[in-house]
Amino acid sequence: MKKLLIHGPARLAGTISSSGAKNAALPLLAASLLAEEEVELHNVPQVQDIRTMLRLLEHLGVENEQLGDTVLLRPTGRASPDEAPYELVKTMRASVLALGPLLARRGHARVSLPGGCAIGVRPIDLHLSGLEALGAAVELQHGYVEARARRLVGGRFRFSTPTVGGTENLLMAASLARGTTVLENCAREPEIVDLARMLSAMGAVIEGAGEETITIEGQDSLGGAHHSVIPDRIQDGTYLIAAAMTRGDVLVEGARPADLAPLLEKLDEIGALVETTDRGIRLRHEGEIRPRGIVTEPFPGFPTDLQAQYMALMTQAKGSSTVVETVFENRFQHVLELVRMGADIRIDGSYARVHGPAQLSGASVMATDLRASASLVLAGLVAEGETRVHRIYHLDRGYERMESKLQKLGARVERID
Ligand code: UD1
Repeated sequence: MKKLLIHGPARLAGTISSSGAKNAALPLLAASLLAEEEVELHNVPQVQDIRTMLRLLEHLGVENEQLGDTVLLRPTGRASPDEAPYELVKTMRASVLALGPLLARRGHARVSLPGGCAIGVRPIDLHLSGLEALGAAVELQHGYVEARARRLVGGRFRFSTPTVGGTENLLMAASLARGTTVLENCAREPEIVDLARMLSAMGAVIEGAGEETITIEGQDSLGGAHHSVIPDRIQDGTYLIAAAMTRGDVLVEGARPADLAPLLEKLDEIGALVETTDRGIRLRHEGEIRPRGIVTEPFPGFPTDLQAQYMALMTQAKGSSTVVETVFENRFQHVLELVRMGADIRIDGSYARVHGPAQLSGASVMATDLRASASLVLAGLVAEGETRVHRIYHLDRGYERMESKLQKLGARVERID
């Protein structure tokens, strides 16, 4: 199995370019199931989750051709299954995003239930009750969701809690429903706005994406589109945190300040110099890091997907800080590994108390999920000596060429077998 070997400590300096957002590209790819014509997607990141989604789409009858970071998606019209099998869903929960578009376009969908994952239970009950509100008959059997509707009918649905995937599934399904759908208490993440933009280019009529209430006028059919995926705010944020941690000077070209506002505010508070320009975001830091707490929340709050990386940063701050995780119930698995590297962190339920600055020392550590892996890499950058991050297949699900980006910034990082 592949590992990442990091020789610390490092100071990161230089310029890197943003990659396309995995979490935006996944629903955009799923939306190609709705199209009657070719969809051309640009700036698609080359990460494992995208390869998995392309395999699923092929299975469902959408052919793809890849030219660098451009992916052409063509509906084949051939008879193909309406089913997302367990083998694919178990490696990537986002396969559940096929449910809404399949059901809306073909009247039937069978998708394996994703089950829990390393960071929490992660039910999809709201996806299902939302589809029921549009007239679908939903059954759970043998570990699969089976949904049917001759034609979905527009309706009103309120999410009891904002869900990113749930909002995306419903947005796609409602675009082909008969009549008007009103979705309330929607997730407001930039990835949802990106999805609505592409659906609109395909002919959908959507108002309010990025706000709590979204109104969709369903269409009889949707065409193709040319669309460019937004930059990956989580990857960009990870490199900005790395720059602060290593007292570096890094420009992330293409990074969008509005998408990263809650992180940039914190980076400013800890004493880093954050400059936003037309080119992207530059962060410089020297001297002490001030401790500042965070509470993860749905957008526009502090993203749970940057919590682990921010906690690694706080191990280097002078004093105590509190990290509160409110989105997922089991998202502190990086803590034990950070502690093994010398961090002083105590957990009490969804609260973590970090005391710093800790002199971290390189160790062999185990990645448990995608973002936890990134936090261990960051810790490795400031640790004395050699850090080996095992199980980096987690990292490869969502970070594009991480080691080459870090090498470009001067870190000594290599991938080993
Ligand atoms: C997406 C992101 C993930 C990120 C998360 C929160 C993708 C592919 N993944 O995941 O990286 O960490 O948003 O920003 O975009 N919930 C329910 N019932 C449901 C659906 C969700 O109770 O039917 C709960 C979840 O258990 C969780 C919370 O809602 O506690 C938010 O989850 P959700 O926004 O749905 O996350 P994902 O879309 O799975």
